[in-house]
Amino acid sequence: MNERARPEAVATLSLEQSAWFMPFTMNRQFKKHPRLVARAEGIWYYTPEGRKVLDGTSGLWCVNAGHCRKRIVEAVQRQVATLEFAPPFQLGHPLAFEFADRVVKLAPEGLTRVFFTNSGSESVETALKLALAYHRLRGEGHRTRLIGRERGYHGVNFGGTAVGGIVANRKIFGALVAGVDHLRHTHDPERNAFSRGQPKHGAEFADDLERLCALHDPSTIAAVIVEPVSCSAGVFVPPVGYLERLREICTKHGILLIFDEVITAWGRLGRPFAAQRFGVTPDLITTAKGITNATVPMGAVFMKEEIFQTFMQGPENAIELPHGYTYSAHPLACAAGLATMDVYEEEGLLTRAEALEPYWQEQAHSLRDLPHVVDIRNIGLIAAFELAPRPGAPGARGLEAHIRAFEKGAYIRVTGDIIALAPPLIIQKPEIDQLFATVREVLKSLP
Ligand SMILES: Cc1ncc(COP(=O)(O)O)c(C=O)c1O
Repeated sequence: MNERARPEAVATLSLEQSAWFMPFTMNRQFKKHPRLVARAEGIWYYTPEGRKVLDGTSGLWCVNAGHCRKRIVEAVQRQVATLEFAPPFQLGHPLAFEFADRVVKLAPEGLTRVFFTNSGSESVETALKLALAYHRLRGEGHRTRLIGRERGYHGVNFGGTAVGGIVANRKIFGALVAGVDHLRHTHDPERNAFSRGQPKHGAEFADDLERLCALHDPSTIAAVIVEPVSCSAGVFVPPVGYLERLREICTKHGILLIFDEVITAWGRLGRPFAAQRFGVTPDLITTAKGITNATVPMGAVFMKEEIFQTFMQGPENAIELPHGYTYSAHPLACAAGLATMDVYEEEGLLTRAEALEPYWQEQAHSLRDLPHVVDIRNIGLIAAFELAPRPGAPGARGLEAHIRAFEKGAYIRVTGDIIALAPPLIIQKPEIDQLFATVREVLKSLP
């Protein structure tokens, strides 16, 4: 076995001078006190020393079927030895077509076409560009404005950062993209704290879109992009009636509605897509992550037939959409994706969260009386615990919770002082108990 293959070799490395500029990480703090994993199986990570850590967030909200699933691993292994790459421009390979036809069958009714990308961020850029181009092709090139929402997260590329609503992710990057505005967020702890599932109050927050329409004139607005459940910013579940209202207003004004389902698709809410759970159909849906169980990077944008057909108008010997990536529909991603859909289907994972939700919800809310907890939110197989920040040190308590949980055997995500949980959809009830028991222990121990 060479040095690289030996996980324990990593444990002895000093990372403080490492060349790797880590993403979304406190680089200096982390490299002094690294948290490493060397292997994974099912819902478990294993540290280089062999300690088991329960993966409470499906990696990064993406390993929905659990880690190192044999069927997916073998499909990728076979594919890499058969056709490791084929250009997706003016050439195809059969798996790409097979995968596209497979995934659109799971999409909400009417979203019949799919464009492949390599990440959530690329899916967002693609959807925004599709929206602009769609309007222009229909003679409405004046629709150039893009509307996001406060506390939304849409990845890290220029368009996604611009429509995103997390201040820390935006402020050091300048003016970004012109013509972007934001809806107000839907967080209303005074009325909705400790809601189970969708909060009762706040459908009217969708009317903020009418305010922006009045300000800019609806004829200038191309699209509104929202996460059905805002996950990365701290798990904000849409109030009852909110998404319906947003849909109505978009339809009334000819504005495209984009659901960013990079996290919420592929079973997280007990349906293949959150749009199906909420009974609201957008015009475009962005996905990534769980589409391949995160085994190979991939993203996808689903769109209504009418949007696709708008592009299919010009001469047949012209490229209809001057957009795409070298690795769109990469053969390894398609192989991983097809095997992932097999696993999802055979194990009923795209609806399993629905069956687990009542139990998950009870366990989550049983932590209500613990120290520091000011709100608990949940839906599908997602839960969030909002902690009171330490005076003068926002985020410090959250970071400490994250570190302590890892030491105690659970990997959990924190955004500031909000803990988010979203384990693989294969998790069993005793493991749910174990995850919440660890969080309970951590919260009790936190100063
Ligand atoms: C809603 C949403 N959109 C976009 C992204 C960006 O995806 P990626 O990190 O794959 O670029 C994420 C990532 O968490 C996300 O949650």
